[in-house]
Amino acid sequence: MLSGVLAFRAYTRRMARDGDAPGDARRRISRRALLAGASGASVSAGLAAAASMGLLDASRGKANAGGQVPFWGAHQSGIATPPQRHLYFAALDFTTPSRADVAEVLQVWSAAAGQLCAGRAAGAPRDRALPPADSGEAADLGACRLTITFGFGPTLFESRGDDRYRLSRLRPPELAELPVFPGDRLDPERCGGDLAIQACADDPQVAFHAVRNLTRLSRGVAALRWAQAGFRSTDVSERGSHRNLMGFRDGANNLNPRHGTQMARHVWASREGPAWIAGGTYAVVRRIRFRLDQWDRDSLQDQSRRIGRDKTSGAPLGAAQESDAADFVSRLDGQLVIPADAHIRLASPASNEGARLLRRSYSFAEGTASGGGLSAGLFFICFQRDPRRQFVPIQQRLAQHDALNRYISHTGSAVFAYPPGVMEGDWVGRALFDA
Ligand code: HEM
Repeated sequence: MLSGVLAFRAYTRRMARDGDAPGDARRRISRRALLAGASGASVSAGLAAAASMGLLDASRGKANAGGQVPFWGAHQSGIATPPQRHLYFAALDFTTPSRADVAEVLQVWSAAAGQLCAGRAAGAPRDRALPPADSGEAADLGACRLTITFGFGPTLFESRGDDRYRLSRLRPPELAELPVFPGDRLDPERCGGDLAIQACADDPQVAFHAVRNLTRLSRGVAALRWAQAGFRSTDVSERGSHRNLMGFRDGANNLNPRHGTQMARHVWASREGPAWIAGGTYAVVRRIRFRLDQWDRDSLQDQSRRIGRDKTSGAPLGAAQESDAADFVSRLDGQLVIPADAHIRLASPASNEGARLLRRSYSFAEGTASGGGLSAGLFFICFQRDPRRQFVPIQQRLAQHDALNRYISHTGSAVFAYPPGVMEGDWVGRALFDA
């Protein structure tokens, strides 16, 4: 216990001296985490050891290289943040029966995430006879705009009728399990999770390093359930769109995360749910595999009609530019210019009673699929105020009628409540555990 506290005191003194004052709140929270971790009474040995690392010192090389996105703030970063190039997403399950352990690990994770997003290591250097506190692969990379975003799955609140953490009364109705959609080919090993860690960065190794070191910190308390890496191309249009692996520009008619009114209306939870989620949002993630061998044999004209946009320009069919509004009414030779089963028509607010999503998806390509061909597709991530009124009806419509369906299968799925952000020294989820 002593070594953890001493290391932490030395750490806060050093930070204060270097002008990076930690503040009373952080001192209080982190010390609590260290004390609890080091006591070993309620938290596993793994977490205790991690907490006693002196939580997080050693500057990670060029800490300012590649830009920093602060972990602290009113909303968690990684939602409205302009998308970085790489994603590493992990879903974990808590293995502990103790509510206190879960709260402790969230405190340790928040402190660690604050350090990692500032380009620092996940632990101070220590005795060479011990395993290094930080795994080291991001040592010279800087922050690379790393964001770490935490989410809570429905099973955190209640798992198979078991209210193990006494949280079930605080589960927002919006955080409902998703229904089964027509054509779903879900692999249970790529679905669900008590907790999500979404790490995004402009360097793939920085994103991976964040998840790797956070999962190390929770050893004995939480276990990895599934993980997914993703990437985006470097080419981003003025509309913020990028080409996904079907070769189409994705994101042209996305919500604009800089548009406060749109975000308040469609993305940020407000007073409709329990107080702890206000300022947070709900994420739906779907791993969608593309049958690229078949798609690549489809004609260019047909591909464009399936999406409803021109593959080269990104413009809605019948329009000239990517930014032009889609015209869902016009016909040519009696045929709708944007076909009835085109993806953008079925997904549009006009077809879904005004429902909109903030999409923040990443491509994946990872070896070969079990049935043959490349295992590649889209790790679809979307944010909204209420998946029951936004993702679910849109996906119902797409699952039934989307002209893309011949070429895709949904193989993974999860829904998470992303709590609001916190100020430096506080921890993500405290409002839930204090409620
Ligand atoms: C097979 C995987 C998918 C691919 C390849 C794909 C691709 C695209 C493309 C190229 C666009 C047009 C550009 C844009 O506005 O972003 C688009 C639009 C859109 N997609 Fe998808 N998408 C996929 C899955 C989904 C899913 C699962 C949903 C939600 C359930 C969704 C919702 C939307 C929405 C809301 C739009 C904007 C429609 C509009 O208002 O114009 N997409 N998608």
